[in-house]
Order: sequence, then C-alpha cells, then structure tokens
Amino acid sequence: MLSQIRSIVEAISPRLIEIRRHIHSHPELSGQEYKTAAYVAGVLSSCGLRVQELVGKTGVVAELPGGEDSRILAIRADMDGLPIAERVDLPFASNQAGIMHACGHDVHTTVGLGVAMVLAQLGLPLPGTTRFLFQPAEETAQGARWMIEDGVMAGVSAVLGLHVYPSVPARAIGIRYGALTAAADDLEILIVGESGHGARPHEAIDAIWIASQVVTTLQQAISRTQNPLHPIVLTIGQIQGGRAPNVIADTVRLLGTVRSLHPDTRNHLPQWIESVVAGVCQPYGAKYEVHYRRGVPSVFNDPTLTELTARCASEALGKEYLQIIHEPSLGAEDFSLYLEHAPGTMFRLGVGFTDRAVNYPLHHPKFEVDESAIVAGVLTMAYTSYRYWQLPGA
Ligand code: NI
Repeated sequence: MLSQIRSIVEAISPRLIEIRRHIHSHPELSGQEYKTAAYVAGVLSSCGLRVQELVGKTGVVAELPGGEDSRILAIRADMDGLPIAERVDLPFASNQAGIMHACGHDVHTTVGLGVAMVLAQLGLPLPGTTRFLFQPAEETAQGARWMIEDGVMAGVSAVLGLHVYPSVPARAIGIRYGALTAAADDLEILIVGESGHGARPHEAIDAIWIASQVVTTLQQAISRTQNPLHPIVLTIGQIQGGRAPNVIADTVRLLGTVRSLHPDTRNHLPQWIESVVAGVCQPYGAKYEVHYRRGVPSVFNDPTLTELTARCASEALGKEYLQIIHEPSLGAEDFSLYLEHAPGTMFRLGVGFTDRAVNYPLHHPKFEVDESAIVAGVLTMAYTSYRYWQLPGA
C-alpha cells in the first residue's frame, strides 16, 4: 500500500505545488478566510468528498466515508495568514498588502488537501470515516474553539496535525513524544493606589512604583519558588498608567502572557500570581485585581499515535529523515483544544533549505518554505491515516 500511496503522491505533486502557490499568494487574516475556504471546498468537492462550508465561521469540513469501523479519524489543517508584509521576492509572493503566510498555514492546508486526494484516489473504502478539518483563526487561538463549538469533534476517535518547522530540513519530519507546545494564558493585573502631587509622595499611594515592584517580584519569585524543571515564562508586554509627569499615578494596568508546560503548574498559577501581587500591594495600602484567563492548553502528544506516526514516517521517508525532538516549544497551538476531545498527535514538518546558511523563523517577513516538504508531509500523513485503522479499536 505504501508504494501505491507514494505513486499517487508523486502524480499529484505538481498540482500540490500549484495549490500551495495559489494559497500563498492569496493570504487572508484570521477569521476572514472566505476565499481560501471557498478554494479549499472546491478542491475537496472535486475529490468526491462530502463538504460542509461555514463551519466554525469560515472553516471547512469534509468527510471521506469508510466501512463498518465506527471510529472517525480527524485530520486538521489551519488556513489563516498573518498581518506581516512579505519581504521575499517570489513569483507567487503575497498579493495582499501587509498580509502573509508567514507561519506556513498555506503548506498545512495544501498537505491536508493532498491527503484527501490520496485517500480518495486509493479506490478502496477505508475501514472507518476520515474527517478533514480546515480551521480558521489559529493565529488568534480562536478557530479550533469555533470548530469544536460547531460539533466537528463529535464521534472523533483520534486527530492528526502537523506544523512546519524551518529548523528541520525539508523532506524530514520531527517527532515529539509528550508536550510539544505550551499552555498560553492571558494575564491582566490592575494596581490601584491614590493620586497625589509629585512632590508629596507621603500623601499618595504610587501605583507606578508598586506596579514596577510587582513586575520584578513576579520574575524573581518564579526563579526562587517554582520548580525549574516545570518551566513558566511570564511576560508583561504592556503597561498603562499615569496622567502627567508631576502627578502620582493612581492606577496601572499590566497585561501579559503566561506560558507553562505542565497541567499541574498551570492550575496553581492563578492563585500563586495573586498571592505575589497581594504580598507586594498590601504593605503600601494599594488595591489590586488579578484576572487570569485560560487560553489554549499545552499540545500533549498521545504515545500510541506518536509512535504510529514515527513508524510510518520512517518507512515512508527513510529513517534518516526522522528526527526526535527533545525539547518542547513554549509557543502555543490551538490544536491542543481538539486533544481535550480525542487523543492525537502533531508532528513538525521540516521546511528548511539545506543549502542556505539562514532559514528565517516562523512569523518573519522573510520566512520561506522548501516546497519539497509538501510531498514528505502528504506521504507521512496519508500513510499514517491509512495505518491508523490497523490500531486496535477503541
Ligand atoms: Ni502556525
């Protein structure tokens, strides 16, 4: 079967490059993927799949019906671009000013379509149903939630995904057992003091001075009170407060992001942050509010499905093209929300040019993809999807 899959992938590879270039040159922002979704739906319909549009706002869902096995395997791709002006001189560069596929979601969508084409062309019903999820708005961590609210995970027994990775060479893939990405939560801290004359601090409660202590105390307290093997990154990225140079500020608002890998660490963070803030504010009589909003959890790869992907990639690409990733990323990925409903795994698809000294990172205006990655991605994902049905039933 692998040789049959391989020959279909080879036959459709010029079409896949065409699809990828079309999507790359027409990027759309999160939640506005109307043209991309229509294009994706068109390709899926032409493969004979049952297609549903406007799922999760601008998402597309397609099903390849299978046989008696009641399991449903979901394959997820994301479709949105970023508000970045592309600085790569390509004939198929973005034609949308200030918008770019700088995170490779054009490649993810192409691979998803490629897998649909391959499985549809196999000419035999697979044991169970394969459901393709093309989600919007991954960059704003909203799309997976919208899709799930529209019921796309109903009956799903496993979900597969991939993300491009410029530091892995094209034609290779990276496998990570366990945590792949971090939980990403939002933090808002409000410090409320009392305004006063800049020359008379003893008659006021200086919210700016207290807020600066909150920022530094949080950083120090992480390093002295939290398990360094369970990493936490807390970044305050925005500070708002004050009205005039000679007026003591009564209110400061701190906004930040909190990343963590371990669910236990994440669960105790809201209370812990509040206790640190309270400890700084109380001696000076300042009031405070801490709002901790849970964003997306960590992507935690299922061991059985990760092992299956690793075996399939090794067979399909050659074992020298399989890399084991030893460290997780503290980036976030809303694929994790699907994993709250079914086990799954996400692999890294290498897109790095081996003959270049520099491969620009994701979200960089010069980010570029070695397109030979697309065949490797489709081959790995299609073969893993085929072999999934040989795993013992749930
Ligand atoms: Ni991305």
